[in-house]
Amino acid sequence: MLFFINFKTYDESTGKNAAELIRTIEKKFSGNSSMIVVLNPLDSMIDTTLQKYIQTAEPLAAGPFTGHVPIGVVRKYNYSGVMLNHSECRISTDKIGESVAMASNLGLKSLVCADGLEKIKEVMPFKPDFIAYEPPELIGGNISVSTAKPGIIEEAVKLLKGTKSKLIVGAGIKNKLDVRMSRKLGAEGILVSSGVVKSPEPIKVIVEMMEEVV
Ligand code: G3P
Repeated sequence: MLFFINFKTYDESTGKNAAELIRTIEKKFSGNSSMIVVLNPLDSMIDTTLQKYIQTAEPLAAGPFTGHVPIGVVRKYNYSGVMLNHSECRISTDKIGESVAMASNLGLKSLVCADGLEKIKEVMPFKPDFIAYEPPELIGGNISVSTAKPGIIEEAVKLLKGTKSKLIVGAGIKNKLDVRMSRKLGAEGILVSSGVVKSPEPIKVIVEMMEEVV
């Protein structure tokens, strides 16, 4: 199972605070291939021994693209993957397809977010490495996707069975029971943000949840 921590753009997880949080996570999980941090493009210069993905990028090569985040330059910052179409940063289906293809050509993994089964069906043909099911209404809340949507997770598992894409689930995941339930339902990873980043004791929460990441 994989544990993605989306740093989003919280005060607690950007700039200096992002670097500090990463150093804390590294102390415990450096070299652990299940642990992946998902950083805002603003924090691209933070180097880490952890695997890191970028929160969004566009299907562009290096070039004259002021203010854009071209997939073509992402590798320079030691990212190993690109997250695409998060609910807070949606892009068109065409762009998802182009981005997954470009990322794959450059040896980057792709994690495509989907808000439901229809979207999962739509992006499956692009063969991303991961599809993250995240119901938007549960993001940042206290009820986890595994508690509120077990049936949809099971359906998504069936849909992705035998394909290249692994199912990740996210939204409202806060403790090890949520992780255990996600795993039992067949998810191959979790995507967490506020449960870790906004916690007064992030590393305690991570360590606890990681016990279930097997
Ligand atoms: O990408 C992760 C995310 O949207 C879930 O957020 O705060 O519910 O863990 P949160």
